[in-house]
Amino acid sequence: MAEKSYPWKLAWITGASGAICGELARRLAQAGVTVAATARPSEKLDGLAATSERIKAFPADVLNADELKSCAARIESELGPIDLALMGAGMYVPFDIRNIDLDGFHKTMALNVDGVINGVAAVLPSMLARRGGQIAIMGSLFGYSGWPGNGAYGASKAAVINLAESLKLELEGTGVDLTIINPGFVDTPLNAAYDPKKKLFVMSKERCARKILEKLGKKPYEIAFPTQVAGFLKSMRSLPRSVSFPAIRAFIRKMGA
Ligand SMILES: NC(=O)c1ccc[n+]([C@@H]2O[C@H](COP(=O)([O-])OP(=O)(O)OC[C@H]3O[C@@H](n4cnc5c(N)ncnc54)[C@H](OP(=O)(O)O)[C@@H]3O)[C@@H](O)[C@H]2O)c1
Repeated sequence: MAEKSYPWKLAWITGASGAICGELARRLAQAGVTVAATARPSEKLDGLAATSERIKAFPADVLNADELKSCAARIESELGPIDLALMGAGMYVPFDIRNIDLDGFHKTMALNVDGVINGVAAVLPSMLARRGGQIAIMGSLFGYSGWPGNGAYGASKAAVINLAESLKLELEGTGVDLTIINPGFVDTPLNAAYDPKKKLFVMSKERCARKILEKLGKKPYEIAFPTQVAGFLKSMRSLPRSVSFPAIRAFIRKMGA
């Protein structure tokens, strides 16, 4: 198979021991990109690094801002400038109005929001200094609209979508690009607790990684898929709530979800 060519020499990926980001790391390494793979120390992370000499493990906890800053500095001193920093560490917990899992809510917000900004803060100064680089943030289509059962996850992804908009506006003219990646359901351990009947238009991690890499090198502001779900959820955002809430309920009924 011919190697694809991407505009990056070195990519830093957080959440690299996970399903989607591990798949991205493997695909990038196959295409000749060096990947600095970050997650907490584990056999999974070491196992990923063992699949390619182009994948190097840089274990760190994204919740620890200082540790992440040192991690990014170590990557740049050992491997060179980070061209692509993909903030992928994330989690999902179910949200039940009758039994609100406060601990799960706080952990989800911390990992999905603080974990992202900690990574951005670790890598952005060096990108700004050299006027180059691309930051990519893993959001979710469920950041666009409230959805039953998604109170924690959806709130965290709405926060990073808004953060990405602010960053994009402010990065104008700095030479640093910003991309928000908003997939729909992907079949991974992250949403194992989700009722399978409610996983609409679910895709494999391979398809998800392929869809991301088809576009990421062109440095768009947003990559969102599958198209049907993206179109529906984005339109809900812009409609009056008196229209969007009944539309969401009708959609859920129609899908039998
Ligand atoms: N699956 C979906 O349906 C879906 C859809 C849209 C968007 N996304 C987003 O895509 C990203 C990846 O999702 P996935 O399904 O591939 O998840 P996953 O397989 O559960 O992977 C989650 C990753 O986050 C890492 N992580 C968790 N806590 C961490 C911490 N404190 N410090 C460093 N790393 C930590 C995990 O590594 P360790 O636990 O080993 O540290 C793992 O590598 C997430 O941001 C998710 O929200 C997923």
